[in-house]
Amino acid sequence: MQSDTAPAHTAPAPGARTSGAPGPTVPTWDPGQYLRHADHRARPFLDLLARIPEPPGRPARIADLGCGPGNVTALLADRWPEARISGFDLSREMLERATAEHAGPTAGGGSLDFHPADLAHWIPEEPYDLIVSNAALQWVPGHPGSFAAWIGWLRPGGTFAFQVPGNFAAPSHALLAELCESPRWRSRLGGHGARSVHQLDPAAYLDRLTGLGCTADVWETTYHQLLHGPDPVLDWVKGTALRPVLTALGDDRPAVEAFLDTYRELLREAYPSGPRGTVFPFRRIFAVARRDA
Ligand SMILES: C[S@@+](CC[C@H](N)C(=O)[O-])C[C@H]1O[C@@H](n2cnc3c(N)ncnc32)[C@H](O)[C@@H]1O
Repeated sequence: MQSDTAPAHTAPAPGARTSGAPGPTVPTWDPGQYLRHADHRARPFLDLLARIPEPPGRPARIADLGCGPGNVTALLADRWPEARISGFDLSREMLERATAEHAGPTAGGGSLDFHPADLAHWIPEEPYDLIVSNAALQWVPGHPGSFAAWIGWLRPGGTFAFQVPGNFAAPSHALLAELCESPRWRSRLGGHGARSVHQLDPAAYLDRLTGLGCTADVWETTYHQLLHGPDPVLDWVKGTALRPVLTALGDDRPAVEAFLDTYRELLREAYPSGPRGTVFPFRRIFAVARRDA
């Protein structure tokens, strides 16, 4: 089911509106802040990787969609050192970090490279053995609508595998959404702080992937993460869920501080710190879909 035409990968400028106003603003990302919790964030990717079967091609051709700072992309090269691996992302900041730290030849004669792309419009330009995405598709409206095209570009026996957070009803996100919608912040954020949720339930992903003729394995896991340091949940979301708010408030430091002060108090109540740290439960949804050989 490969398409004959392959549109070029395109990406709007960081901080730009994705379409005509009013519309969502593309958040700016901070790789340093994001990587402060790199161990907890990489764990689900390792759990996903453990379920991915061997790719049909040798060397394998692999795409990592929403590769971020490239540290989990590099884990693909650890497993398949001969593979040609490309990471795609919308964020200039993330791509710069990924390229600086991970691009180049790999130990087994393969390669890692990174490219700008908006996953909302990304179509492969060549067949892949594995298309993978970790903690990125929840930012992409309508992403299940792209599954048919992505799976269609897999070689027979190839795999499409992804992980998305499933914790949007958790206090961390519910309190953030409430705060964004409060009278004080609603007009200030102009609708660009509150983030929409683009994630299906596991059963819906399973239905979608098997409906496309794949052999699919879908599951969910809640990680009971023990975080350390002061206000660690706030520190975590500063790297992810808060990006749209921080982008919308921009250089207005008093507004940023006022927003964070209120949100910090709400999080302290929802996630009290204990003698051994702060427990931050985090549900995640996984899918591994194999195209029949
Ligand atoms: C939470 S980070 C995950 C990064 C990496 N996959 C990891 O597991 O560490 C989400 C990434 O998705 C990217 N992203 C969000 N929307 C995107 C889009 N429409 N197209 C491409 N990348 C996007 C962001 O720029 C960010 O780097």
